[in-house]
Amino acid sequence: MSANYKITGPDGQSLADLPLVEGTLGPKAVDVRGLYGNSGMFTYDPSFNSTCSCESKITYIDGGEGLLMYRGYPVDQLAKHSSFIEVCYLLLYGELPTAAQLEEFDTAIRYHTMINESLKSFFGGFRYDAHPMAMMAGVVASLSAFYHDTTNINDPEHRNIFARRMIAKIPTIAAAAYKRSVGQPFMYPQNRLDYCSNLLHMLFAVPAEDYEVDPIAAKALDVLFILHADHEQNASTSTVRLAGSTGCNPYAAIAAGITALWGPAHGGANEAVLRMLDQIGDISQADKFIAKAKDKSDPFRLMGFGHRVYKNFDPRATIIREYCHQVLEHLGMENDPKFELALKLEQVALEDDYFKEKKLYPNVDFYSGIIYKALGIPVSMMTPMFAIARTVGWAAHWQEMTADPGNRIGRPRQVYTGSEQRDYVAVEKR
Ligand code: SDX
Repeated sequence: MSANYKITGPDGQSLADLPLVEGTLGPKAVDVRGLYGNSGMFTYDPSFNSTCSCESKITYIDGGEGLLMYRGYPVDQLAKHSSFIEVCYLLLYGELPTAAQLEEFDTAIRYHTMINESLKSFFGGFRYDAHPMAMMAGVVASLSAFYHDTTNINDPEHRNIFARRMIAKIPTIAAAAYKRSVGQPFMYPQNRLDYCSNLLHMLFAVPAEDYEVDPIAAKALDVLFILHADHEQNASTSTVRLAGSTGCNPYAAIAAGITALWGPAHGGANEAVLRMLDQIGDISQADKFIAKAKDKSDPFRLMGFGHRVYKNFDPRATIIREYCHQVLEHLGMENDPKFELALKLEQVALEDDYFKEKKLYPNVDFYSGIIYKALGIPVSMMTPMFAIARTVGWAAHWQEMTADPGNRIGRPRQVYTGSEQRDYVAVEKR
């Protein structure tokens, strides 16, 4: 039994006696659920820097060690030995699949990649230059209108069908958004193709000619998707959990996650990195922009740098940087100026006291955009790529929360700093 934490007031009076919550790994937590009832006081942690919102078995991060594990398996081992589909199974069901289980899961995903034909008209309602994330959020939110048969969130089978359906269809929806934005006809999924080959085919094939998927490109996407699949209680996953805690249908919760991911401080950073590299132009400007990033009066930030949890390197960035070399070399782009600039920025930043003191290292978004661009994926489709990969993480967390019998609606409180009570004044007396 772990010791309790006693909260005492300024006069030494005992305010609360709070138990500790201990997990398998990581810091202990003070269970403050009884604090308000016993002391009349709230805790205050606006960006949840020191706050656990739940218990979870899915992903573990050690920010100091630069460690990321899915269900206990280090992500560098999964990136090296596994596949995105196998990692989806692991995140959803908690164990690596047997060959038969993987075969069944992979087949189930392949045979659910088509979207309802009437959904195609939804894309036509968007302006041609609508951001693909706007289209994805809108279309995913509408999915509940097509699946009345499986929205009983208390039925484990319905929860399982939702997760497989969402993982299967999100690439088709993302590719359709891209095709809408370039004015090309949608390409239907091909069940003969694996997950990432199918996505590349839906993105870049046209009805007018055959399209052969580059297996190196498909493998690069597969590794990137493994690295982006889940990341504990990040902003978009916490959004999915909070939305889902109201009992809304799971498609609405995933749509909320998509909108949260879109922000440049989160999943929108990969797009922002590419735009930043364009803005910097070439290596000769690196020092000027590093100075801007350090200038408090300048809103410029070095996008793709820094992380709330990793105060050391982001293990995903290290793997992606290595992959960058391989993919660019395979594509004959080893001298890609953007990659050169990114490497130089990383080198200059990591030698700079400001970045070292604030422990700002490249994060998952710093190099991913360079690979996406080398694969022909436009900047506007980079955050959608992140959303495709993260859908399994969102689905796994939604399932874990919804299956928990102790699950309650999330409802934070506040420190009120507004006006004290006052009486209404008629307009003629104001
Ligand atoms: C993702 O949560 C997750 O796990 C997210 C993610 C996932 O897989 O789900 O890992 C994916 O979102 C990665 C992060 C992508 N975002 C960016 O690359 C945007 C640029 N980075 C920053 O906006 C920032 O670093 C955050 C948002 C990532 C982290 O913000 P924090 O933890 O709130 O840190 P902060 O803003 O308080 O910064 C601490 C200090 C500040 O200086 P001081 O006020 O202490 O003087 O560091 C500075 C910041 O000004 N700082 C930066 C900086 N990031 C932080 N200065 C220059 N450039 C930067 N990129």
